Amino acid sequence: MKINHIYLGDCLKLMGQEIEKDSVDLIYADPPYNLSGKTLTLINNKTGGPFYKMNEDWDIWKYEDYLVFTEKWIAKSWNVLKSTGSLYISCTYHNIAEIIFIAKKIGFKLNNIITWCKTNAMPNITKRTFTHSTEYVCWFVKGNKWIYNYKNLKEMNPHRTKEGKTKQLRDFLDFIELPIVQGKERLKGPNGRAIHPTQKPEKLIELIIIASSNENSIVLDPFFGTGTTGIVAARLKRKWVGIELNEEYYKAAYKRIFGNEGVKYG
Ligand SMILES: C[S@@+](CC[C@H](N)C(=O)[O-])C[C@H]1O[C@@H](n2cnc3c(N)ncnc32)[C@H](O)[C@@H]1O
Repeated sequence: MKINHIYLGDCLKLMGQEIEKDSVDLIYADPPYNLSGKTLTLINNKTGGPFYKMNEDWDIWKYEDYLVFTEKWIAKSWNVLKSTGSLYISCTYHNIAEIIFIAKKIGFKLNNIITWCKTNAMPNITKRTFTHSTEYVCWFVKGNKWIYNYKNLKEMNPHRTKEGKTKQLRDFLDFIELPIVQGKERLKGPNGRAIHPTQKPEKLIELIIIASSNENSIVLDPFFGTGTTGIVAARLKRKWVGIELNEEYYKAAYKRIFGNEGVKYG
């Protein structure tokens, strides 16, 4: 596989063709949630523009096809991961049941579910359910010798003892409060609107990469989007590989990571 590289294409095909078996330390996957065209219509949402609707072609599935697709990419992830590897999958209440069921069927063990509480969640438009403010990241492992960098996480923990030393992680939980990406971190197009509807916060990806990989580890993101995983992995001195199907997002990720100068796509 090419390291520190974005592949343009379908991860189902490319994970089989380009990524060697048992070669990857960590996969962070933010797959389609199968949400589009159904919900999340909001007028005056500043993140997506004056009228923002989650209506992406890549996110519209028949339920049966979604199950088949999910099983295929999780099985490919199993193949390319080392026996010590971890697979983190972002999801919401819409697809968490399917993700966990399928991953377990393939052989993965579920270690944790990280809850991301969105501090600027969308308001309750329908007034018919509790306000949705959370997404999840399921952490799966292949074997029982997974990487968990407890000491590094202790350093990340903002809480200190009276003497200024790092603390036991009693107050550093499988729960993280972060806003939906906004401000400078949000990639915007010339029209001022967000380039991608589901760009993930760098802080969330940082937590995952620090916890479950080491310097020079290989981190794969098969649904690369705007390249958040690549940016964070490079900053943390990990090797990374991204796969993205959509050419517009691929170009945005490329520009975000490599800058404008001397850009060659492909
Ligand atoms: C939820 S978004 C990922 C967003 C990303 N985490 C970020 O921070 O920007 C999912 C991405 O997967 C891409 N995608 C969908 N199906 C794919 C496939 N079969 N192979 C590769 N990428 C795919 C979509 O184009 C979309 O950009």
